[in-house]
Amino acid sequence: MATTITITGAGGQIGYALLFRIAAGDLLGPDEKVRLRLLEIPQGLRAAEGAALELHDGAFDLLEHVEVTDDAAIGFHGANLALLVGARPRGPGMERADLLAANAGIFGPQGRAIAEHAAADVRVTVIGNPANTNALIAAASAEGLPAERFTALTRLDENRARAQVAAALDAPVSSIRRVPIWGNHSATQYPDVSHATVDGRPVLDALAERVGDVRVWLEQTFIPRVAKRGAEIIEVRGSSSVASAANAAIEHARDWVRGTDDWTSAGVVSHGEYGVPEGLMSSFPVRSVDGEWQIVEGLELDEWARARVDASVAELVEEREAVRALGVL
Ligand code: NAI
Repeated sequence: MATTITITGAGGQIGYALLFRIAAGDLLGPDEKVRLRLLEIPQGLRAAEGAALELHDGAFDLLEHVEVTDDAAIGFHGANLALLVGARPRGPGMERADLLAANAGIFGPQGRAIAEHAAADVRVTVIGNPANTNALIAAASAEGLPAERFTALTRLDENRARAQVAAALDAPVSSIRRVPIWGNHSATQYPDVSHATVDGRPVLDALAERVGDVRVWLEQTFIPRVAKRGAEIIEVRGSSSVASAANAAIEHARDWVRGTDDWTSAGVVSHGEYGVPEGLMSSFPVRSVDGEWQIVEGLELDEWARARVDASVAELVEEREAVRALGVL
């Protein structure tokens, strides 16, 4: 049996970076056949059809079928995994409420279509921004599916954070573990090194030898660098993060299906863990066990960390309120 994967916004940049890696087995491994469903809006169909032609020319052993459509009922039909990339970007002069409203108009209907047409085991990863609140809207609209089946991508933020720690310590990135992201996939996020290790040794100790006052380094260098990395990429590259975002999305979905041997980060529904209001889609340190994300519980958050988590969570609450005011939730 093949796994059916739906990718929305498949005619866009991240879609293009995702498709060929998935077809090559990077998500599900070298033994699992894949069926791809590329869901676009009419303006994006030609680009998605072009990508489908190239997938054909890739002659991938694992790729059984590719379907391109602008009909959500067809796009999500039988989906075991859905990567929701297509979203409405913020246009010039667009207020945040307008942005949330436009995206509610996408993720509400997609949540409903997933509930109606996807496979019973469907797992949804929202990449399109504002990812956490879009995931919340999709989950709330997917009657009959548990909210745990909907997640928001914060793995790119975690990867950025691990890479920054590795660079600061002049250590290989593979030696850095446990750098979770808390809160929203936005500039308020809190990348947390307080439990991180480098080759099993506390990162905080290693940093103290390198950067002097660790708190100052975290506040003035590390956290802003990670939180604003997306803007830095746009400035240097002239275009937003694409390949690194696709890579993170593949890692997130792969770990969800195949499990983790340590913590990672994902935007998942809160049941009140760490005081995060129930129902919010917040990033937490998580493990994936038997196909389900589990929030890592019992971690100490000192006053400084608590304030940062609270600030990011407050932004998620505001986004939820704004969406509720639109009558969407
Ligand atoms: P893009 O503009 O190249 O592609 C977006 C595609 O989505 C377009 O082809 C468009 O036609 C399509 N689309 C729009 N509405 C749709 C709908 N209702 N159904 C299906 N398709 C639809 O953008 P790119 O670079 O691929 O980025 C996509 C999204 O990913 C953006 O919202 C971006 O902010 C977000 N992003 C999220 C990251 C994360 O870490 N969570 C990291 C980087 C980007």
